[in-house]
Amino acid sequence: MATRVILNLIVCFLVGASTSGVRGEDPYLFFTWNVTYGTISPLGVPEQVILVNGEFPGPNINSTTNNNVVVNVFNYLDEPFLFTWSGIQQRKNSWQDGVPGTNCPIATGTNFTYHFQVKDQIGSYIYYPSTALHRAAGGFGGLTVHSRALIPIPYDEPAEDYTVLVGDWYTKSHKELRGFLDSGRPLGRPDGVLINGKAGKVGVKQEPLFTMEPGKTYRYRICNVGLKASINFRIQGHTMKLVEMEGSHTVQNSYDSLDVHNGQCFTVLVTADQAPKDYYIVASTRFLKDVQTSTAIISYTNGNGEASPELPPAPVGWAWSLNQFRTFRWNLTASAARPNPQGSYHYGAINITRTIKLANGVSRANGKLRYGFNRVSHINPATPLKLAEYFNMADKVFKYDVMKDEQENTTDFIEQPNVVNMTFRNFVEIIFENHEKSLQSYHLDGYSFFAVAVEPGTWSPEKRMNYNLLDAVSRHTIQVFPKSWAAILLTFDNAGMWNIRSEIWERTYLGEQFYASILSPEKSLRDEYNIPDSTLLCGIVQGLPKPKSYT
Ligand SMILES: *[C@@H]1O[C@H](CO)[C@@H](O)[C@H](O)[C@H]1NC(C)=O
Ligand SMILES: *[C@@H]1O[C@H](CO)[C@@H](O)[C@H](O)[C@H]1NC(C)=O
Ligand SMILES: *[C@@H]1O[C@H](CO)[C@@H](O)[C@H](O)[C@H]1NC(C)=O
Ligand SMILES: *[C@@H]1O[C@H](CO)[C@@H](O)[C@H](O)[C@H]1NC(C)=O
Ligand SMILES: *[C@@H]1O[C@H](CO)[C@@H](O)[C@H](O)[C@H]1NC(C)=O
Ligand SMILES: *[C@@H]1O[C@H](CO)[C@@H](O)[C@H](O)[C@H]1NC(C)=O
Ligand SMILES: *[C@@H]1O[C@H](CO)[C@@H](O)[C@H](O)[C@H]1NC(C)=O
Repeated sequence: MATRVILNLIVCFLVGASTSGVRGEDPYLFFTWNVTYGTISPLGVPEQVILVNGEFPGPNINSTTNNNVVVNVFNYLDEPFLFTWSGIQQRKNSWQDGVPGTNCPIATGTNFTYHFQVKDQIGSYIYYPSTALHRAAGGFGGLTVHSRALIPIPYDEPAEDYTVLVGDWYTKSHKELRGFLDSGRPLGRPDGVLINGKAGKVGVKQEPLFTMEPGKTYRYRICNVGLKASINFRIQGHTMKLVEMEGSHTVQNSYDSLDVHNGQCFTVLVTADQAPKDYYIVASTRFLKDVQTSTAIISYTNGNGEASPELPPAPVGWAWSLNQFRTFRWNLTASAARPNPQGSYHYGAINITRTIKLANGVSRANGKLRYGFNRVSHINPATPLKLAEYFNMADKVFKYDVMKDEQENTTDFIEQPNVVNMTFRNFVEIIFENHEKSLQSYHLDGYSFFAVAVEPGTWSPEKRMNYNLLDAVSRHTIQVFPKSWAAILLTFDNAGMWNIRSEIWERTYLGEQFYASILSPEKSLRDEYNIPDSTLLCGIVQGLPKPKSYT
């Protein structure tokens, strides 16, 4: 595969490199990616999908903490396109986040080069398209960040790494699905589930997806890349030891199965300690009326025997999933990506300076379907919000703080760019309040947060008594169960324009997202990088000279 064009260490003395977010002292990984349409039939029906260098799912990026990643993306689709790097924090560098509020889309037939550093991070992540429901057609892949050799991980180095991308799947093209949403129809139920692009069925011969040597332990990196369904993941005859979740080493509990909600990733260890034969990996949808299930095969190297057709059962109901959430704990003594214990940051001792309560909601007024937070439904203006702000033209593109910190008593939805002004370095509590009957999943770009509580019912200030202020996992995506709430805590110390969105993709597409604008008070390069020279300009800033640099 020509996916990795060059992978080497460059001793780089380029003047200005440090201000573009790419730092000279750390190794570089270079990729050239062609994004094209292709036709495959994962569910037996030929359909149009998005390929990256001919692959579906796209190639994995395999990196190590602090690597500089350079991806030159050629868009051969018939529509403008962007990738976003979910969970990669892009410190000081929302220029590379690749969402419509930060970047101009890559026009058809052109290319754009992302430059970013996986700074002070470890873990299992994903990338995917952020534009125009393209994610419904693929274009996603795994992004692994290994710990540096000098920094111990809290388990023995496994024999090998396996990335498993699970998700629901529709047989209709992204354009047809988009047509539904644009005309006021929801997506409806998915047609199946894919495991690394395939939908294996019990009793139908499959090539093994992975192979394990008896006695050895493997690291599986499991992420939900689907559009709306939570997925239960399990491996016949084997338990999974959870070691990492969205960038944090966890307390290492063993699980028979894991609920992976949209946009979430888990890293687990699986030991080949069973009779040497084939076993099914099982991924099935949760909380939908018709459960969709697919399988893949793992075989033992000296294996002899087919997988049993009897699949391990899926859990039932969401209380099970809530109980599972409550078992997730941060390992306070494990090293972080830097040589200090994760628990040395005592988030429970910091005073909350602002509380934002976000109620998700749906509007069907005038035959339109819209989703939003606190009755504001986000729309993407032609000029990315970050560029409008940086060029001092925000007032021509959006108003700050249209959405209030609490839902007001209005009934109508407002459709506007939804940008919240956050004060640099404030420690903020965000409550996601889900009054609906469906499960939600929310993601923050640019940050990790402490998921201190997820509970049924309605939040009130007294609920803070129940927060986990000691060892809640620091992560980037959190689920909210039906008629429940979730509380997260974080310091807004990463200057930039950051997307906060539903990972239920029809809701995001139809407005259930907003941006947090965090400005560097002194316009200092210590807080935020200058706009890179290569930044694409569009909308009202097209053709304008770049503003004066930060200092
Ligand atoms: C990408 O497309 C170009 C032009 O069609 C081609 O020359 C190149 O080999 C392709 N690269 C990869 C990695 O597929
Ligand atoms: C990924 O990178 C790690 C660390 O550099 C290396 O040990 C491993 O072999 C790589 N894996 C793949 C599949 O390239
Ligand atoms: C487009 O790709 C070429 C190499 O083929 C590269 O020199 C150029 O910098 C790229 N353009 C952008 C905007 O990234
Ligand atoms: C937490 O990490 C430490 C340090 O690496 C390790 O020794 C310990 O086993 C881990 N604890 C749990 C409960 O996973
Ligand atoms: C937090 O607030 C309490 C009460 O208002 C105050 O006594 C304490 O000093 C504050 N702590 C910090 C770290 O600011
Ligand atoms: C909204 O209406 C409820 C019930 O009518 C009332 O209790 C509440 O105070 C109102 N909130 C605001 C912000 O006006
Ligand atoms: C954002 O908030 C800061 C202080 O919290 C304030 O100084 C600034 O004027 C606000 N910006 C806008 C655009 O409202």
